[in-house]
Amino acid sequence: MTNKELLQKAIESRKDSYSPYSNFCVGAALLTCDGKVYTGANIENAAYTPTICAERVAFFKAVNNGERNFSKIAITGGKAGEPAGFCAPCGVCRQVMAEFCKDDFEIILGTPDDIKVYTLKEILPDYFGPNNLN
Ligand code: THU
Repeated sequence: MTNKELLQKAIESRKDSYSPYSNFCVGAALLTCDGKVYTGANIENAAYTPTICAERVAFFKAVNNGERNFSKIAITGGKAGEPAGFCAPCGVCRQVMAEFCKDDFEIILGTPDDIKVYTLKEILPDYFGPNNLN
């Protein structure tokens, strides 16, 4: 699947966002190494801190479905009803990526007409991960 196709799925999944407090809708589409796509959208909460980002929804759906090998994730966000824009993953989502992904896992940030690609190593160098506990 191309980055553009994966980004399109992230853009579409913004419709699933439950974000009555920020009105900021984020969509994510996570590709497994064997070609399956898990989408996610952010889910907010009146108590604020239980809010979960789109990226973690996508990862947790996949992990609970037995997936362990991931190739890349596309992410996009913006105010409801407005075009999607570049939306970098928060630190907590980066840490979740570090739990399940290798250094070369790709993070695709996109708008409908522009794409930036990073690796996990670039956006989270020297992380504390599973290997630290060996
Ligand atoms: N959010 C995400 O879903 N992913 C990100 O990468 C950044 C932020 C959500 C959390 C909250 O619902 C809203 O965007 C505003 O922070």
